[in-house]
Amino acid sequence: MTDRTLPTSPTPAANDRPMLTDTLGRPLHDLRISVTDRCNFRCRYCMPKEVFGSDFAFLPRDQILSFEEITRLARIFAGLGVQKVRLTGGEPTLRAELPKLVAMLAEIPDIDIAMTTNGSLLKELAKPLADAGLKRVSVSLDSLDDTVFRAMNDVGFPVARVIEGIDAAEAAGLTPIKIDAVVKRGVNDHTVVELARFIRERGHILRYIEYMDVGTANGWLLNDVVPGADVIARINEVMPLEAIEPNYRGEVAKRWRYKDGSGEVGIITSVTQPFCGDCTRARLSAEGSLYTCLFAVQGTDLRTLLRDGATDEAIRDAVTARWSVRDDRYSEIRSAQTRELPRIQMSYIGG
Ligand code: GTP
Ligand code: 5AD
Ligand code: SF4
Ligand code: SF4
Repeated sequence: MTDRTLPTSPTPAANDRPMLTDTLGRPLHDLRISVTDRCNFRCRYCMPKEVFGSDFAFLPRDQILSFEEITRLARIFAGLGVQKVRLTGGEPTLRAELPKLVAMLAEIPDIDIAMTTNGSLLKELAKPLADAGLKRVSVSLDSLDDTVFRAMNDVGFPVARVIEGIDAAEAAGLTPIKIDAVVKRGVNDHTVVELARFIRERGHILRYIEYMDVGTANGWLLNDVVPGADVIARINEVMPLEAIEPNYRGEVAKRWRYKDGSGEVGIITSVTQPFCGDCTRARLSAEGSLYTCLFAVQGTDLRTLLRDGATDEAIRDAVTARWSVRDDRYSEIRSAQTRELPRIQMSYIGG
């Protein structure tokens, strides 16, 4: 009973899946799935303790999607053209039995499964996750300076343990490994060259992320943002760089290679050079709401459909209806006015 009443473009995607596009012609390629809204870090730019303290109301267990519900949705999204699923949080490795979810997702044909993590539990989990079918990880690491890093995560978590996690990910074959570092002026910008050198020596890809005005908790100020171009200039002074092409349409990072051939480094410039024009990402919150932008105010509730016995077709139509009217481009229109809008927390939607 396929009652396809909602518009999908007749153009087939490269792999012959239907290609669903939004009002700006952007296809739906990536699904970022938040598996928990909790985190064991309290990074000041994401989950400051003053807001995410002991009395913060995290989602209760029964409101979080089960592995079966997540897998069912991922399968429906794959049918709409999604080729890459990325597990996020909060911190995704805090979700109990995560390898079991990865094994269930790995049964969906032709999708790549990746994860974004703070690396704190990777030493124990990298191998079971890789065995279950996880392909790659992006690990957040803001500085190699232990004092700076402990202050940034605000729970005193040592750099050395994240590095052990990165090493475990490499040993488990979760490669290429990307290291993501948020730069905040006056906090860790004096450590960018040191981290770049270290990650290059390890053979991983470092991406510097401009500090963003996500959520409403972090007290963001434009003056705290170090433009990606400045970060590249600083690294270039010591380790000469040249720009290279993106790997694929919609890649969020601009890439640079070390002229001596020893690797690459990227910048994610969502403040100074936004990339909404190529944004192909949908985000699913832990409680089953679909968001079409990191800065969205409201999501589309899919959990009620799941729990009220909706058919796959009905759920697919709800996703299609939402994506078809999507016109988000927050970073391109960011202004004094958008600053005042309410929006979801980064930790709720996982970056
Ligand atoms: P791959 O290309 O598969 O490696 O994935 P990715 O680069 O999309 O994933 P990752 O989670 O490592 O993204 C890095 C960071 O870029 C995120 O944590 C966000 O801070 C930022 N980012 C990713 N997607 C978007 C987006 O759509 N909009 C904005 N403004 N920032 C984004
Ligand atoms: N600006 C930029 N990146 C952020 N992240 C969290 N909060 C912010 C912010 N305000 C990043 C983390 C991690 C990913 C999950 O999102 O550093 O790499
Ligand atoms: Fe830090 Fe990531 Fe946790 Fe946010 S979700 S507090 S960025 S580790
Ligand atoms: Fe996509 Fe929204 Fe980020 Fe623009 S601001 S790139 S539309 S998630």
